Amino acid sequence: MDRERALARVFGAVVPEYERGRPGYPDAAVDWLLPPGCAEVLDLGAGTGKFTSSLVARGLAVHAVEPSDAMRNRLRELYPQVDARAGTAEQTGLPDDCVDAVVVAQAWHWFDEAAAAHEVARVLRPGGTLGLVWNRPDGSVPWAARLRDLLAAFGAGQEDDPAPQLGAGFDTPEQRTVTWRHRQDRASVRSAVASRSYVVAMPAPEREALLDQVDDLVARFAPPGPQVDVPYRTLCWRARVS
Ligand SMILES: C[S@@+](CC[C@H](N)C(=O)[O-])C[C@H]1O[C@@H](n2cnc3c(N)ncnc32)[C@H](O)[C@@H]1O
Repeated sequence: MDRERALARVFGAVVPEYERGRPGYPDAAVDWLLPPGCAEVLDLGAGTGKFTSSLVARGLAVHAVEPSDAMRNRLRELYPQVDARAGTAEQTGLPDDCVDAVVVAQAWHWFDEAAAAHEVARVLRPGGTLGLVWNRPDGSVPWAARLRDLLAAFGAGQEDDPAPQLGAGFDTPEQRTVTWRHRQDRASVRSAVASRSYVVAMPAPEREALLDQVDDLVARFAPPGPQVDVPYRTLCWRARVS
């Protein structure tokens, strides 16, 4: 089985946790990532539609490409107005010059970068833009710093934020970071952790032990109340097709 299909299967195993625990994206990031006059957009590696929801809310015509049947089926349930297709970043199945923007939320690192950049340049109309975005855990409040440190000990990847390598088909990428807080139910912090790819890949006893530690940390250190505000640092890149 090729690399993309293997990874797509990882997320397909945790659709409810993903949907319950993962944040959407702040408006300041979404607005910065979309070019002026954008009417038609492709959400690539769209998952269950966490970014798609912001595109739908802006009244745009949206195509979503997602290889995991389970993720895509959930997206279709939530956003039936979206043209959701099976496909990959390297082979979207869309025609040439068909969208004003391509957005990739929390997914560019899974792609074959050179092949995906080539495919994105093909489907973008002249002057169109590619937007990349990641929600990064932000340790700016003590309980969230504890959570970040706990996950680092269990194998969360280093996040050194290198610039995307898009090749000659794009202008030099611009970068912006947006800090914000995602309000969610206390119990869904566990779901957010459970939906991370390296947690899905753990043996079940280890995974349950980690998730119990997450619950314990939230119970002891997060501010009281039925909901918690989880701080994020949202890293954005945008580049215009040459
Ligand atoms: C972390 S999830 C992000 C989903 C969604 N964009 C979001 O912001 O929540 C990564 C997604 O990329 C998809 N994916 C993995 N490899 C892919 C590829 N080669 N082409 C397109 N999507 C891919 C996975 O199936 C998964 O839905």
